[in-house]
Amino acid sequence: EKGGYATFMEKEIHDQPHAVADTLLGRTDADGRLVLDEMSISEEQLKAVDRITIVACGTAAYAGMVAKYAIEHWTRIPVEVALAHEFRYCDPIVNERTLVVSISQSGETMDTLMAVKHARELGAITVSVCNTHGSTIPRESDAVLYTHAGPEIAVASTKAFLAQITACYVLGLYLAQLRGGSYADDAQSVMKELGGVPAKIEALLGQMGRVKEIAKFMADTRSVLFLGRHVGYPIAMEGALKLKELAYIHAEGFAAGELKHGPIALIEPGQPVFVVVPSPTSEHGLHGKVVSNIQEIRARGARTLVIAEEGDEAVVPFADEVIRVPATSPLLAPLLTVVPLQVFALWLSTAKGLDVDQPRNLAKSVTVE
Ligand code: F6R
Repeated sequence: EKGGYATFMEKEIHDQPHAVADTLLGRTDADGRLVLDEMSISEEQLKAVDRITIVACGTAAYAGMVAKYAIEHWTRIPVEVALAHEFRYCDPIVNERTLVVSISQSGETMDTLMAVKHARELGAITVSVCNTHGSTIPRESDAVLYTHAGPEIAVASTKAFLAQITACYVLGLYLAQLRGGSYADDAQSVMKELGGVPAKIEALLGQMGRVKEIAKFMADTRSVLFLGRHVGYPIAMEGALKLKELAYIHAEGFAAGELKHGPIALIEPGQPVFVVVPSPTSEHGLHGKVVSNIQEIRARGARTLVIAEEGDEAVVPFADEVIRVPATSPLLAPLLTVVPLQVFALWLSTAKGLDVDQPRNLAKSVTVE
């Protein structure tokens, strides 16, 4: 059942190329246009959407943060991400032109369910991105876009996260297609590129030996920091969450731009810091800014563990370790950059002799508020 792996988590990490490919499967026609048969909301209603609110918890909320950058860029519709358990209590601004997208692997998370119910009461259109057929959240929503990650057994989410990001891309590209014109053309070319991502994840998984080595020698580490920017920011937070859950190590993810506004004070000699570097092709010179951040923390003694695109040589002088990921367009990069962080958490937990699949104090689905 674990497919020859020692733990479900390791198996599920290796399932990820399929999770992404299966979530894309059957969602385009012969011309590469998106067709969402299951999207039981009329095109007219979707075209009238002028605001999107994503509700989710934990890892699913980080998928939502990635989705925000992508959907806003592709559709120019404003997207907000709300932690589901905060949503109801912040007097949310929601009406019949608001699309409320819930993201949940289990489809049973009580906090997320209550947010969806509240959104419906306020008149919103609700779509559920969910991995579990027939679960409660899709049943309580106007429409569902299933992720096809297959059952996720390990408590810590991995393949469901990649599938959630993928489904959100599909949703955003579908909305872009509905807008027509250059939005639709761009959507079609992104879909094409997305189709090539599973093979890149597969290739990346074959190169994780060094990450495992690094983790093995860090069993005594007390704290690890994660920095990222743009879509790399939620990935930094996801990397930190995986480490907290699995290795019980204090871990914190920051937006790299925040560093000088406080967190840089934490840097002392030997402090391990993962940095998710944006693609050198990113807009607004983001790549150079993050390379400067690496330089700054290195000068203060940090041990820099740098996740960078193949061929990105600018990071090399300031990196104690460079972990390479295949090149993609910047908005799709999270499907790759998160993988080394999952692998790191898995092997650090193993090095500490902990139960990878069943971390303490956690349940696979949280059915209480
Ligand atoms: C992290 C993790 C949790 C879940 C969160 C939402 O590894 O598993 O943070 O992502 O509890 O769960 P679902 O997606 O089932 O609503």
